[in-house]
Amino acid sequence: MGTQTRCIDGEPPAVPDYLTETYWWAYIDPRAVYIFERQWLVNLILWGNFGRLRDAALARLDCGNDLRTLQVACVYGDLTARLLGRLADGVQLDVLDVLPVQLANLARKLPADSGVGLIHGNSADMPFEPGHYDQALLFFLLHEQPETVRRATLAETLRVVKPGGRIVMVDYHRPDRSNPVYWPMVGVLRTLEPYALDLWKTEIAAWLPAGACLKSLTKETLFGGLYQLITIEV
Ligand SMILES: C[S@@+](CC[C@H](N)C(=O)[O-])C[C@H]1O[C@@H](n2cnc3c(N)ncnc32)[C@H](O)[C@@H]1O
Repeated sequence: MGTQTRCIDGEPPAVPDYLTETYWWAYIDPRAVYIFERQWLVNLILWGNFGRLRDAALARLDCGNDLRTLQVACVYGDLTARLLGRLADGVQLDVLDVLPVQLANLARKLPADSGVGLIHGNSADMPFEPGHYDQALLFFLLHEQPETVRRATLAETLRVVKPGGRIVMVDYHRPDRSNPVYWPMVGVLRTLEPYALDLWKTEIAAWLPAGACLKSLTKETLFGGLYQLITIEV
């Protein structure tokens, strides 16, 4: 099977306003892909922690047979290629993103015969049946979304992952005050990423749907608390 983008429900999703208004320079403008698709740059933006965060997230996913895995949103760098490399042969991996330019960029990074499903869709309204996936990965997506979209993304992720499945999320978190990057990050996030400081003030668990049925939720923090790794057993 080749790697091709598809739109499951027919109607392509609209580009969300927050992407057009806030993140055009990072994801929408084709020059953004040219500039940011460099792993050393992504690593620099994460204070040298890209590989550590990527590997920590991948280690928490199951890589056995007969699994369906969903990556919610594309990521610059080799996250998806590494994820694919960890999964057993023939296991289904789909990546959903609302921007065709990002899906096309991911297609270029994967082998032509990878079989990865590239799905053009919105994380807040996913075109999948309930319980379609065994596990899902969200890597630095939630901090880019306004609260209503973030809540919908979490609700949709819980809907499409089956009972007994797992959700792994990596994102920003309020660091310790003693962390030397505390104030620089306040400046960077206030200037460039207006929704990100929500994750400093509120636990991700607070945005899960009321009455969500979880077996467990584990939070780990890294790099003096600046990053969090959440593992949910559904
Ligand atoms: C995962 S986030 C941030 C990743 C990280 N900063 C990096 O290095 O790439 C970026 C991706 O999220 C996608 N995205 C944002 N909002 C989305 C939504 N509502 N539905 C699907 N994809 C979305 C963007 O199109 C972009 O490809």
